Amino acid sequence: MTVGRLAGKTAIVTGGASGIGLATVQRFVAEGASVVFCDLLPEAGRELAASLGDAGKLHHSRRAAGGPNDGDAIAGELGARAVFVAADVTDQASLAKVFETAVKQFGGLDILVNNAGVGGGEGPIETCPRSLFDRTLAVNLLGPWLGIKLAFPLLRARGGGSIVTTSSVSALLGMPGQGAYGASKAAVLQLTRVAAIEGASDFIRVNAVCPGGVSTPIIYDSPLLARGIDPALVGQGLGRAQPLPRACQPEDVANTILWLASEESGFVTGQAINVDGGLTIEFDSKHRRQIDT
Ligand SMILES: NC(=O)c1ccc[n+]([C@@H]2O[C@H](COP(=O)([O-])OP(=O)(O)OC[C@H]3O[C@@H](n4cnc5c(N)ncnc54)[C@H](O)[C@@H]3O)[C@@H](O)[C@H]2O)c1
Repeated sequence: MTVGRLAGKTAIVTGGASGIGLATVQRFVAEGASVVFCDLLPEAGRELAASLGDAGKLHHSRRAAGGPNDGDAIAGELGARAVFVAADVTDQASLAKVFETAVKQFGGLDILVNNAGVGGGEGPIETCPRSLFDRTLAVNLLGPWLGIKLAFPLLRARGGGSIVTTSSVSALLGMPGQGAYGASKAAVLQLTRVAAIEGASDFIRVNAVCPGGVSTPIIYDSPLLARGIDPALVGQGLGRAQPLPRACQPEDVANTILWLASEESGFVTGQAINVDGGLTIEFDSKHRRQIDT
């Protein structure tokens, strides 16, 4: 009998109905974990979008019940060890229900993946609406902060556990048009370090992953980019965006999250691992060459 790398563990994955989160939910279930995952319901996402003004455009309006990002349908396909709960990570009461479900259905919690995120197309700081900044920080920074807050007592009760947050290479490089997104992703890296120290004596490990460009709806289906982009074209572009000559897949990030979630990384805490095909280590002499010639 094959024993999964997360056999007997219970995990929560936020933003688990799409992209990197979905790949993580699938991988975790395949490795023997019980998983409670949350996401915005299509209708809730639409209502939220309508109430948020400019910031509402961060939410993928094309998600539909019964479509590829329908949380209940995904859970149904994955079987009894996967449960979907509709929740907004910026709302503590709503997020608390996800944690309550993990305790009620599976008896506790061992792993939290703070993955839900929004971004893309915010534009220069000078023209970015204040509401976009607020919502980006709320989902990408307040969400993980609340997640850590809710997870700590449950992980402590188990004698330890692992928290992984999805940051981004945008936390590390000055990317124009990402003032809010990049700042939120840099802030979660510091949150990761602080939480790692606060959790260490209870064997609660806290780490982050920093993906480069990954072909998911946050890129090809963002209403802020004002058009749906053909995922195949996005894939081609991303294949040329870093030294490794192929596009990063959601599964590449999910596999790194799996390692950080598992006991295989048992002495790793407070770290950020770049899953970027070498994007952040390449010296780019382009601009200097232009000046020299
Ligand atoms: N795709 C990339 O190139 C890339 C690169 C670096 C980091 N990331 C990060 O990876 C994470 C996953 O993004 P993805 O690429 O899979 O995009 P995605 O849009 O496919 O998935 C993000 C999910 O988060 C959900 N979500 C958004 N706001 C939420 C909220 N308030 N409450 C609950 N769920 C919410 C969305 O509905 C969506 O299902 C994000 O944190 C993103 O910033 C993505």
